[in-house]
Amino acid sequence: MNRKYRKTIIAGNWKMNMVASQVKPFADELKALSPRPKWCETVVCVPFVNVPAAIKAFKDSRVAIGAENLNENAKGAYTGEVSADMLADLGVKYVIIGHSERRQYYGETDISVNKKVHAALGAGLQPIVCVGESLEQRELGITIELITLQVKTALANVPAEKMRKVVIAYEPIWAIGTGKTATAEQANEVCSAIRAVIRSLYGARIARAVTIQYGGSMNDKNAAELLAQPDIDGGLIGGASLVPAKFSAIIDAANQE
Ligand code: 13P
Repeated sequence: MNRKYRKTIIAGNWKMNMVASQVKPFADELKALSPRPKWCETVVCVPFVNVPAAIKAFKDSRVAIGAENLNENAKGAYTGEVSADMLADLGVKYVIIGHSERRQYYGETDISVNKKVHAALGAGLQPIVCVGESLEQRELGITIELITLQVKTALANVPAEKMRKVVIAYEPIWAIGTGKTATAEQANEVCSAIRAVIRSLYGARIARAVTIQYGGSMNDKNAAELLAQPDIDGGLIGGASLVPAKFSAIIDAANQE
């Protein structure tokens, strides 16, 4: 973390978990455990159908609500899809884009990720853009090249003035849901390379201000060590974000003086 230059953001990604009636009890518990985090922004990203309940349950708190996906088109004949405006109108602030599960199971590509980034920014939403390599790619030694390509494509034609809204999440695929975390050094190395890509595109001042999260088996035990790294400005948390006590311990780790 480097609080002098950029915001620390701890975001939960519920994925396809929790029904709407579970949202309020979760929110009440989390608010009691982490009433006013001083340093970090807290975000809970929920399935579309849980968005209204989440907005309501966290209304009187500092927790912002995020969605897990959106459609890249503004509106029209796209049965079953949800647009950026629909989310913004409900009070959603963040949206996860290009999660590896969406790339793997729903055919999302770097190009569609770029379109979704533009759709989110156009509606005033803050995209949390996910990038990450598979184990095979890491073993081939192409992690940095691959991530560079993912970041450059995701940010294509995004103007500098919109960059303060963009969050990048580095999520090595081999660390997601596996209990196998990247070491703090491995994670920082890639987050630092991502910042270098942003520097090459937008200059030092903007690169210094962009929040870059780590995601992949982050939990209450390893969060402090990961967040102590200079280029890791928060976390995107799956499993541990479903348990208020664990999620709140991660928020606490981000709030150490
Ligand atoms: P886990 O924290 O369950 O590994 O999930 C990480 C993730 O994919 C967050 O987007």
